[in-house]
Amino acid sequence: MPSEADRNSQGPWHVDTELVHRGRPPAIPGAPLNTPIEPASTYHAGGEIEYARDGTAGTLALEAAAGPLEGGGAVAFATGMAAANAIMDILPAGSGGRANPPVVVAARFTYTGVALRLRELAERGAILLRRVDIADTDAVIAALPEATAVWIESPTNPMLEVADVPALAAAAHAAGAIVVCDNPFATPLGQQPLALGADIVLHSATKAMGGHSDCMLGLAVTADEERLGQLRLRRTLMGASPGALECYLVLRGLRTLALRQARSQASAQVIAERLAEHPVIARVRYPGLESDPGHARCRAFMSGPGSMISIEALGGAQSAQRIAESTRLWVHATSLGGVESLLERRRRWDAENPDVPDSLVRMSVGIEDVEDLWADLAEALSRA
Ligand SMILES: Cc1ncc(COP(=O)(O)O)c(C=O)c1O
Repeated sequence: MPSEADRNSQGPWHVDTELVHRGRPPAIPGAPLNTPIEPASTYHAGGEIEYARDGTAGTLALEAAAGPLEGGGAVAFATGMAAANAIMDILPAGSGGRANPPVVVAARFTYTGVALRLRELAERGAILLRRVDIADTDAVIAALPEATAVWIESPTNPMLEVADVPALAAAAHAAGAIVVCDNPFATPLGQQPLALGADIVLHSATKAMGGHSDCMLGLAVTADEERLGQLRLRRTLMGASPGALECYLVLRGLRTLALRQARSQASAQVIAERLAEHPVIARVRYPGLESDPGHARCRAFMSGPGSMISIEALGGAQSAQRIAESTRLWVHATSLGGVESLLERRRRWDAENPDVPDSLVRMSVGIEDVEDLWADLAEALSRA
């Protein structure tokens, strides 16, 4: 019979096994297998946890499971945007010290919320912002002098551009800048930015990590202990702590991430290949296609192209909107990474970057049967 220490050992196992077993309470007779959802704000004095804003047993369980996936320590936040704001708040100041704001080189296509927030900070002088084409390594390097941070998103939302993360990280470090990588399109299974040289990874765990479109949560992951402490303090001071139910749901989602990701990614490849041949589609953006500009980098730095596809309708915005509104199985809704397939025309949002084509439909492939997904989509495309 295995000893208690054996039952509580932590691998090393393959990542899909780790996903199932990490972040569980000690295996002792009579104890539950999962950290229970604990509705509590305050705790008897003198213990490890005293006040829930600093984190709870559920937060710690989730962080223990999520951090090692990226090769660092994780700090869980109420949303992806809360994690993004905490990271923005700890970016190093420009040369010349505290009086000089951080100089941030950022991908020109990033998630709208991140883009708007960076712009707001720049407008009020809290950062100096340089927007770059993140897939153009030379352009990023040219923007690096005096930069203190590079904000990468790869693949980008919704353009699916793939950055050369190792080259950008090396150049940024040589220039004295730190590197942040927003990673929810790839998921920690598709790309590990810390291993590629990034300093902080950002996740909207609302997406594939949670995986069921039923909760919101963000994660910041870093291998640097000092930054980890700064991020935890930001969470406490900004009041951006995740709820007990949300931590539980994301950890429960992580248990099946590998299975869901394998299935949705395989379906995305099939669907992208068929879309590339379809007469009403002008362009398919998916790094799993050999013809995609991000394909070589995807093969080099990622373990798979992921489950997100963007298409551009030949007939323009109206045709794209009709496609998005004509499916029965694909859900016309924003967001991504859930078990159910979603699609939307991104420019229906006024806040979306005007350089995103207005004919672009972003698609998040779920875990339904691929032939059902294709039949439904083909029907919608016939109405484009
Ligand atoms: C790439 C990316 N980063 C950050 C976020 C923000 O995450 P949340 O919606 O959990 O605040 C999103 C949300 O769509 C996203 O797509």
